[in-house]
Amino acid sequence: MVSPANAYSVLRLARYATGAADDWSRLPLFNPPVEPILTQELDGPAGASATSLSGAPVALPLPPDGASLDDAALVRLGEQAFARYPTQFAPYMRVALASRQAPARYGLWTDAAAGVGGLVRARMPDGSVWLAVTCATCHTARAADGRLVAGMPNAALNVGRAILDAEGVAAAGASDPRAAWGPGRLDVSSAAGTEPARIPDLRPVRWLTHLHQDATLRGADPVTLAIRLETLIITANNQTIRPPRIVTLALAAYVRSLGDGLPDPKTAAVASPAGAAVFATTCAKCHAAPGFTGPPVALATVGTDPTLGRSIDRGTGTYRVPSLRGVGTRGPLLHDGTIPSVAALFDPARLSAGYSGRLHGTGPVRGHTYGLSLPAPDRRALIAYLEHL
Ligand code: HEC
Ligand code: HEC
Repeated sequence: MVSPANAYSVLRLARYATGAADDWSRLPLFNPPVEPILTQELDGPAGASATSLSGAPVALPLPPDGASLDDAALVRLGEQAFARYPTQFAPYMRVALASRQAPARYGLWTDAAAGVGGLVRARMPDGSVWLAVTCATCHTARAADGRLVAGMPNAALNVGRAILDAEGVAAAGASDPRAAWGPGRLDVSSAAGTEPARIPDLRPVRWLTHLHQDATLRGADPVTLAIRLETLIITANNQTIRPPRIVTLALAAYVRSLGDGLPDPKTAAVASPAGAAVFATTCAKCHAAPGFTGPPVALATVGTDPTLGRSIDRGTGTYRVPSLRGVGTRGPLLHDGTIPSVAALFDPARLSAGYSGRLHGTGPVRGHTYGLSLPAPDRRALIAYLEHL
């Protein structure tokens, strides 16, 4: 943990493997039977049910206690957990199940094989059934070629809108901070909901020097990642349950494997040799190969909106340098998702007061001015290079 004083670190240090009475290790293990929501269920008279099962749910198949898995089996378990483990109960998502058209209203993908937006129903020990989101709800999206790609951020997902609609506060919604999240962003940390972060691309995670856009955690090795995911699942469930550690280790191994699906950066250098040359002189000192990332940068240096970086919940006074692997195929850019594309990031017009191209709000998008004063042909070459990464 980079900043032991932020709320994220304080809570984790107080509860993780302390041996004390309130140690998270004493929480009951959670691996309930689940089933995905199937697209044909949406055609029912009231859409798909959020609270009753349609088939026979199954729990993740775990090895016997104490047994280990080889790397390939661990990644396979992680792949299943990514699409099926109930990360957080989300009864509000019932609004996205009301009809065939409803999932799209909230940016959930639908797929004949994978179901509806990664949503699952879980059967609890008391027999009740709960709707939950999985990693795939936020971290899987449809690529331009129509494939669902695990790790790609779901830039259309509008969690804020689903919560407000389910609570029936549409009219008052405009003043609610969750109305400002918009697609592809949510506040995963502050109680006030005023610090939305864009859903990041998980494909390049194995190259990152720091996790979280505000660089809360150092390293993305399997153990750091597994403990981060264990913490996520415990806190997302109000510290009432914990996931089996084999599940979070498997998720970490799977997330780290996702980089295999990204193009080789050599392809980008072939597509735009001039862009590769500009990149090497202007950008590579921060975005260094092989992951095109590097140590975090002080908020005042990078100059983008500092709100998230100053968060008392998880801020560190810096932003991490995002890996540029996959940047050509992921959703909006910067930690707050205000920039729609690589071309927009390198358009000097975005700094001026009259700029109309930003997402989430109006006016200029300041900061990260690197490359903006280059001659137009160099900027074009750079954009072509980035679009192939
Ligand atoms: C409701 C949406 C949502 C769900 C469900 C979700 N995440 Fe995330 N995830 C986010 C957001 C938003 C962030 C950005 C947090 C930040 O930068 O502070 C994030 C960050 C991460 C990161 C850090 C990546 C980085 O670039 O620093 C990892 C790893 C991750 N999630 C993995 C998972 C896994 C694995 C699951 C399932 C167990 C999961 N997430 C479930 C929304 C979600
Ligand atoms: C001083 C270090 C530094 C330099 C130099 C730098 N960057 Fe960055 N870059 C960052 C940081 C930090 C961010 C994240 C800012 C944020 O999210 O607010 C970032 C974000 C980006 C993003 C958005 C990625 C995403 O997924 O959101 C792109 C694209 C990018 N940089 C490309 C470049 C290019 C091309 C150059 C050279 C013209 C360059 N950068 C120079 C530090 C740097």
